[in-house]
Amino acid sequence: MPSVRPVIIAGNWKMYKTKSEAEELVNSILAAIAELGNLPCVVLCPPFTALETVVQLVQARGIEVGAQNIDYHDAGAYTGEISAPMLTHLGVKYVILGHSERRQYFGETNASVNLKLKASLKHHLVPIVCVGETVDEREAGLTDAVVSRQVAAALSDVSATELSSLIIAYEPVWAIGTGAVCEPVEANRVAQLIRGTINNLYHKKDFAEAVPILYGGSVKAATIEEQLAQSDIDGALVGGASLKAEEFVPLIQAGCKKVCLTVPKT
Ligand code: 13P
Repeated sequence: MPSVRPVIIAGNWKMYKTKSEAEELVNSILAAIAELGNLPCVVLCPPFTALETVVQLVQARGIEVGAQNIDYHDAGAYTGEISAPMLTHLGVKYVILGHSERRQYFGETNASVNLKLKASLKHHLVPIVCVGETVDEREAGLTDAVVSRQVAAALSDVSATELSSLIIAYEPVWAIGTGAVCEPVEANRVAQLIRGTINNLYHKKDFAEAVPILYGGSVKAATIEEQLAQSDIDGALVGGASLKAEEFVPLIQAGCKKVCLTVPKT
């Protein structure tokens, strides 16, 4: 029987929300979802300064917390950096790696994403690895080459057994914060390409089939249902629409609907 992948709705808050704004947002989300059943896995990824607050607010509520980056060293003289053990110590369970904004503005490379992925696995943080092509790459017909190269590089020298958990987010760069959404059928095709790349790397179809793949890029209530209806899209990594409870809660609700459809009937 094919594995049932979890449905994941993750919010990447980027560099938004002070501690008190984070409290307000989380409390509004918690109040709005209190009565919902069949919740998807909800992962909130605030900035470092709000992580501890958010962990404390959500811990009894089955919601998980993720960071937006790590340094790959465990500790050391790396001014300004944050390590995986510092995060797990706070109760953080996930980490976004290789976001295109980090690749574009902070010199993140496929090689550094690989180092960070290994550090996150070593410390039992679930990596959410972001991949995606720029508009120029898409127009040049390079989407598949770029995405599969990013996936393969992120997983370089990582064995299937080491890779206890992995989430991939397909985030076409041209769709991030632009209102331009990748057609769901096309996003699904790229998700299948990602699964195929993982299968080629590990030669384990069950393993590739079990990796949750999220879509990210201008996700909003009007589009999420069609995105989640795709066979290989297991959830969403949401930027702008995760910053307001009234925009994020409908996305969680869409996740609940997908959970209802994917839970095996007894
Ligand atoms: P938007 O949802 O604002 O397009 O951002 C997507 C994103 O970058 C999530 O990581």
